[in-house]
Amino acid sequence: MGRITRLPDDLANQIAAGEVVERPASVVKELIENAIDAGATRIAITIEYGGKKLIRVEDDGIGMDPEDARLCLERHATSKISKADDLGAIATLGFRGEALPSMASVSHFKLRTRARGSDSGTEIRANAGIVESVVEAGGPEGTMVEVADVFYNLPARRKFLKSDGAEAAHVSRVVTQLAFCYPEVGFTLTSSGRKILAVPPVAGVSDRLYQIYGDRQDLIAVEREFGGLRLHGFIAALAEQGPVRGPQHVFVNRRIVKDRTIAHAIIDSYSVATNKERSPEVHLFLEIPPDRVDVNVHPTKAEVRFREQSLVHELVRRALGDALGKGPAPELTLRTTDVLPGRPMQPAIPGALAGGSFPSRWAPPSSNPPSSWAPPAETTPPGTGAAVETPVPANVPAVRPMIALGQFRDTFIIAMDDEGLCIIDQHVAHERVLFERIMEKLTSESLESQRLLIPVILELPSAERAALVSKAEALARFGFEVEEFGGDSIKVNSVPALLPPNECDAALRALADDLEGLDRGLRLEDALKQIAATTACHAAVKAHYPLTLEKMHHILEELRATAYSTVCPHGRPVMLRITRREIEKNFDRI
Ligand SMILES: Nc1ncnc2c1ncn2[C@@H]1O[C@H](COP(=O)(O)OP(=O)(O)OP(=O)(O)O)[C@@H](O)[C@H]1O
Ligand SMILES: [Mg+2]
Repeated sequence: MGRITRLPDDLANQIAAGEVVERPASVVKELIENAIDAGATRIAITIEYGGKKLIRVEDDGIGMDPEDARLCLERHATSKISKADDLGAIATLGFRGEALPSMASVSHFKLRTRARGSDSGTEIRANAGIVESVVEAGGPEGTMVEVADVFYNLPARRKFLKSDGAEAAHVSRVVTQLAFCYPEVGFTLTSSGRKILAVPPVAGVSDRLYQIYGDRQDLIAVEREFGGLRLHGFIAALAEQGPVRGPQHVFVNRRIVKDRTIAHAIIDSYSVATNKERSPEVHLFLEIPPDRVDVNVHPTKAEVRFREQSLVHELVRRALGDALGKGPAPELTLRTTDVLPGRPMQPAIPGALAGGSFPSRWAPPSSNPPSSWAPPAETTPPGTGAAVETPVPANVPAVRPMIALGQFRDTFIIAMDDEGLCIIDQHVAHERVLFERIMEKLTSESLESQRLLIPVILELPSAERAALVSKAEALARFGFEVEEFGGDSIKVNSVPALLPPNECDAALRALADDLEGLDRGLRLEDALKQIAATTACHAAVKAHYPLTLEKMHHILEELRATAYSTVCPHGRPVMLRITRREIEKNFDRI
C-alpha cells in the first residue's frame, strides 16, 4: 500500500495561500493588481481592524460574466496566459491564477461582479475555500471582492499578524506604492472609517508624486534611456539637508519589486558623489521589454530576474550619477518681513540684499562694478528687511560661470551670474574640487609627492600607528611616505605636493584617526576615498582666510568643472543661491 495521497483541493489551496497571502497587505496588493489588470480607472479599498476583520476592494474594471466568476475561484484558472510561451513576456500583473483561490481558502470570501455592458451580475460566497452560494445579483459594472476574517481557519497563521495599526500601515504602504505607478487610476483607502488616501486619476507620475507627497522640490528628476531600457523617476538631491534615509520605491514594468542589483547601483551612485552614508529617498521606474525580465521567480512576485543584470546596474548608475551631478544648489528664499527679533536693521548695501545679511566688511570691487550692480530705482519699504528662509532648490543647472564679487567674513565667496547671487563656502568648495582632482588622478597614476626637508615625527597611540603603517601602500599612492620610527613614533618623509607643509601634522593625525576607525575589512577603494577626502580637507583653503579676487575666481572656475559641484565629499552643501526671480519679486519688480 503506497504512502502517497493526493491532497484535497481545499488543503492544496491553503498551502498555496501560505505563499501568496502573508498578511492583509498581500491580499490588498493582489486585489488591486487584479483591478488594474481589469482596466479599472477607479479603485476603492476599505479595511477594518488593519484588514484583519475586513478587506474590501471595489473597481470599475471590465468585470466577469457568470461563468468566469465561477472559474476564477478555481486554482490555476486565469484569463491572462494560456500557453507556455506567454510566460516569456508577461504584460499583466497577475498570471498564475492563484490569488483569488488562495485568499478564498483562508477567509470568509465574497465576490460580486458585473461584466461591462451586461444587465446583471453574479455574487459568490465561499468560506475556507468552499463555495457556499452563487446567485445573480445587481450592483455596478466592475468587481467587488470582500475578504473577511483572514486566517480565521488557520489560527497558527493568524497569531503571526501584528497589531491593527501595524497591519494598516502595511496596507497603506502597498496602496501608496501601487497608486504611485498607476497615476491614471484613482485610488481611495479607507481604514476603520477614516479616509487615509484619496487620489483622483492624473496625467503622470509627477502629478501623482504631488498628490501623495505634496510639493517636493528637494527631489530631482531622473530620466535616461539606454540599451532599450528606460529609467525615470525622482531621487533625493545630494545637497538635501534633511534625513539621509527615505522611502525607496523601485518599480519594474510597473511592478513593486525589491531588487539587489538596482539597490546596489543606487548606493554606488550616491557614494561616488559623497562619503556620507545614506539610504536616500528614491522613486524609480524601470521600463524593460517583458522578454528581457523574468517576473515568475518569487511567490509574491516581489522579485524579478533580469536577463542582463549588468546592463540594468549600469543604466541605474549612469542615470542617477548624471542627475546627482546636475543637482541644483539649494536656493535661499528672500522674504520681506519685519526685522528679525534681536537683529538690528543695517543700512542696505547698494545692489545687494537689503537688511542685515551682509555686514560692511563685504567689499565689492567698488571701483568698477558691473552694470547690474546699480542700486534699484525704488528703495526697500521702510521697516522691512530680507530674511533668509528655508532652502528651495529649483531646477537650474548646478553651476554657471560666475563672477566673484567679494568675500564675506573671509569665509564665504559672494558671486553672481545672470540668474542670481551665490554664496559659496570657500573651504567646502575647494575641498570638493581637490577631492575630485585627487580621485581623478588616482585612477591613472599616483599623486605628486614632495619630500620634506625635515621629516615629521609623529607620536601616535599604537592602534592609530598600526592603522597608518598597514595602509602605507595606499598612502604612498597619495604621496605620503610613512615608516615606523621606533617607540610610539612614526616618521613621515614625504607628503602630497598639494598639502601645505604646515598642514602635514594635522592631516596625518586625522588620517590615522580615520583609518583606525574604519572597518578592518574595508574595501581598498573605500579606504582610498577616505584618504582622498581627508587630504582634500586639509589641503583646501580654510574658513577665515582672506582670498584675492583672482583666487576666488580660480576656485569658482574649478568648481564649475567638477561633476558633483553642489556638495562636498562629506555631503555638506557647497553653495546657496538666491535667484534673480526671488530678488526681483522682493523688490516688487515682477
Ligand atoms: N477585479 C477583477 N476584474 C475582472 N476580472 C478579474 C478580477 N479579479 C480577478 N479576475 C479574473 O479572475 C482570474 C483569476 O484571478 P487571480 O488573481 O486568482 O489570478 P490571476 O490574476 O490570473 O493570476 P495571479 O494569481 O498571478 O494573480 C483573473 O485571471 C481574471 O480573469
Ligand atoms: Mg491576480
